[in-house]
Amino acid sequence: MIVGWVISEPLSDGVFELGLGFVEKPYRGRNILYKMLELLVENENSSFVFATFESRIMQSMREQLRFKDSTLREILIISRGKFATKRLSSLAASRRVATHLKKKKALYGIRRPKKS
Ligand SMILES: CC(C)(COP(=O)(O)OP(=O)(O)OC[C@H]1O[C@@H](n2cnc3c(N)ncnc32)[C@H](O)[C@@H]1OP(=O)(O)O)[C@@H](O)C(=O)NCCC(=O)NCCS
Repeated sequence: MIVGWVISEPLSDGVFELGLGFVEKPYRGRNILYKMLELLVENENSSFVFATFESRIMQSMREQLRFKDSTLREILIISRGKFATKRLSSLAASRRVATHLKKKKALYGIRRPKKS
């Protein structure tokens, strides 16, 4: 039975962005989101990045999945610009990001593979 999913999108060679996640309502609050993320990041010899506006999420990603704080600059370099260009490719998406950025500061996280 499938109770949830997470999206991991390739940005450049060996670099993926963690995107949306979903867990069916009756199964929420049982750490399923983080278990799925753990399986994903532990089994891949890849780097993972993500962006969030929520410091609570940043903190969980640090504590549960050993993500480190990053910067937009670092993520742009590691993704060869794709992190930005994919957002610019849709006018609606770039407007949404711009509106969010006016209100809140974006936080960036990165997890590099153990052996790189
Ligand atoms: C967000 C969601 C996936 C969490 O699933 P879950 O299995 O209940 O999550 P877990 O039990 O593994 O972890 C709960 C933690 O998720 C974190 N969390 C909440 N929203 C989150 C998000 N958007 N992204 C990542 N982590 C999130 C919180 O830190 C929470 O910890 P807390 O309760 O101590 O504050 C689920 O509530 C859901 O499907 N919501 C509807 C879809 C949605 O809003 N998705 C997020 C957009 S990416």
